Formats: sequence, structure tokens, C-alpha cells
Amino acid sequence: MPSLVEARSSNASFRPDYIPVAVFIGGTGGIAAEVAVLLARYTNGGIHVIIAGRNRLDGVKVLESLAKPLAYRDEEANNTLGSDSQQLLREFVFCDASSLRSVRTASENIHKLLRTQGQRINFLVFSAGYGNYFKSFDTMDGLDLQLMMRYYHRFKMAFELMPLLRNARDNEQDAKFLSILGSGIKWPVNPSDFGFKNLGVLGRMFKAFQTGLASAVYMDIMIEEFASRERGISFSHNWPGVVRTAQLDFAFRSYWLFTPFRPLFDLFVQATTVSAEESAEWTLFALLDASAEGKGFYRRWNHGQELNAGDASSPERKSLREKLFMHSVLEMHAEELSITSD
Ligand SMILES: NC(=O)c1ccc[n+]([C@@H]2O[C@H](COP(=O)([O-])OP(=O)(O)OC[C@H]3O[C@@H](n4cnc5c(N)ncnc54)[C@H](OP(=O)(O)O)[C@@H]3O)[C@@H](O)[C@H]2O)c1
Repeated sequence: MPSLVEARSSNASFRPDYIPVAVFIGGTGGIAAEVAVLLARYTNGGIHVIIAGRNRLDGVKVLESLAKPLAYRDEEANNTLGSDSQQLLREFVFCDASSLRSVRTASENIHKLLRTQGQRINFLVFSAGYGNYFKSFDTMDGLDLQLMMRYYHRFKMAFELMPLLRNARDNEQDAKFLSILGSGIKWPVNPSDFGFKNLGVLGRMFKAFQTGLASAVYMDIMIEEFASRERGISFSHNWPGVVRTAQLDFAFRSYWLFTPFRPLFDLFVQATTVSAEESAEWTLFALLDASAEGKGFYRRWNHGQELNAGDASSPERKSLREKLFMHSVLEMHAEELSITSD
């Protein structure tokens, strides 16, 4: 398990011999935004970045805060940007992760933007935050909101954008997927109702709690299946620990029952949690450290430490993986974007 200093120094040693393309879904704030900032810093600004989310203002703020190459800054100051510099991509793409249509449009727009960058993605990071273990909601597409936010849209976009990751791999560059959520959770999965659509009375009462846990388990299963299908690409699923972001506020602090205890809660939080920047350092370590060799998938905890791969290769697990994969393709109307199409 790397200390923060070790993670930082490992990240700082990242020296790609090409200009990477990084895409952050839910990168308008929280942990992913900090990972984008760090990755730009450690590559001295030599990186193409797309931030996707539903809040353009915040997305543009993140993009503007990213390090830029020295030459680019000089040219910008002198208002003499040459054609080479202008090719550095820093773009916001609208994506409401709770909507099937918006997710598809975002995949298409990312795909279009990357036509000028060799139609490749080196780092694809998912982090749009949502968690409510008390009350469940449906999306306008009739899907459970928590499953959509924490699992389905990540599957759909990964599936649709996979040709761009493959292209990076085929050019002998990094090709890495990372989902920031909750790895290593043990919770039973019901293969005949992955979408939690046929629950009894008791099941409906605790639906939010169940989908909160099941979405994390699905993500563990998803990376195993993708890794077995897409050799040469690494798939990581991280639990970031308890991190001071909007997610933490939403989950606990803003709940009205906690109002009288807020000062105490804030003291406790400060003592027991980490900042988004610290968490991002370990998250980036996990992303860069993942190798496409061997099993190709990684479950990690808050300090980048790897968890046991468990029973990933047993016949029962293999069958479960395939069933969830097929269910997700159908439920998400997932269709790969071709790297040669318009
Ligand atoms: N923070 C923690 O303690 C913690 C603990 C365990 C797991 N996690 C998981 O780690 C991941 C990152 O957490 P975080 O704390 O960085 O999350 P966060 O700050 O709550 O959210 C990250 C970003 O997601 C965006 N987002 C929310 N809803 C969206 C939607 N429908 N479409 C597109 N973007 C949306 C948010 O922007 P807007 O709301 O402005 O759109 C925000 O910028 C999440 O998956 C979370 O569940 C976090």
C-alpha cells in the first residue's frame, strides 16, 4: 500500500512518449476533477482533456485550471498561438449520466472531438457521484436512478467508446479504464432481476439500500468481463475512501435530522476523511499502476492497495459475468461507435 508521498512520487514519474487523451465522465467536481488537475500537472500540461458532466460552468473552470505546456502559455500571452498549440484539446461535453439519450449523445460528441486526436482514448475515468441508501427514484427512462448513475451509464459509455481505447492500445499507448465507486463489496446478485424491477413488498422497501450495494458489485463484475474480452486494456474499480466532496455533503450533512449535530459532524469529518486532492493522488496512482498484462482488472481501496481478485475465474462467476454483460447491453441499448463512421 503506497503512502501519499509514494503515490505522489510514482505519479510524478509518469513520462509518456506521446500526448495522452484523458476523458473524465463526472469530472466537473470532486475526485475526478482533482485527478484531471494532477494528470495535467504531471504531464506538464502535455495532455488532451475532455470533461463530461451536466454543469458547463464547473467543467470549464476545471479545464481552465489545468496546467498548460510552457510554450503554449507564452504563445497565449503574446496572442500568437500556432496551429500545433491549438491542437491541444481542452473540451467540455454535456452529459447527464442519468439519461440514456444524453449519455449516447455525449459518447457521440466525445467520439467526434477525438477525430483530430487519432481517435483514441488513453484514460477513461468515471466518477459522476450519486448515492441514496434511503429512497429510490426512477429515471425518465424507467430505470433505477442509483443503478443508472453508479453502474449502467458507465457500462454504456465504456461499451460505446471501447473502439477508442482499442485504438490507443493498438498504437502501443496506455489504454486504461477506471471507475471510482466501491470495490470489494460482498452482496448477493439476482441474475433473473439485475434491474430490480420485480421486487416484492419487502424488497421495494429496501430497494435504495440494495441498489446502492448491487451497483458496486456489478462494477466489480463488469471490469472482470471487460478485461476478459478486451485484452491489452486495463480495467480498474476503486473505492476512494471517505472523501470531502459534494457527495459526502449530500449523503449525510444535508440530511435535516443531522442539522443540530453539524458542528460536531464537521469536526469528526475533518479528522476522519481525506481531501479530494489527496484521494485523487491515490486514485491516479491506481490508474497509472494498472497493467494490461495478466488478468487486466484491478479492484483497489482508498490508498491504491489491490484487493484479492476472488473467484473471478470460476465457471459460476464466468456465467454471471456474461449474463450481466448481455443484460447491460440490452438494457442500455449499447452500440459501439465505429472509429471510421461520421
Ligand atoms: N466522496 C466520498 O466519500 C465517496 C465515498 C465512496 C464512493 N464515492 C464514489 O466516488 C465517485 C466520485 O465521488 P465524488 O465524491 O468525487 O463525487 P461528487 O463530487 O459528488 O460528484 C462528482 C461529479 O459528478 C457530477 N454529477 C452528479 N450527477 C451527475 C449527473 N447526473 N451527470 C453528470 N455528472 C453528474 C457532479 O457535478 P454536478 O452535481 O454539478 O452535476 C460532480 O462534479 C462517485 O461514484 C462516488 O459514489 C465517493
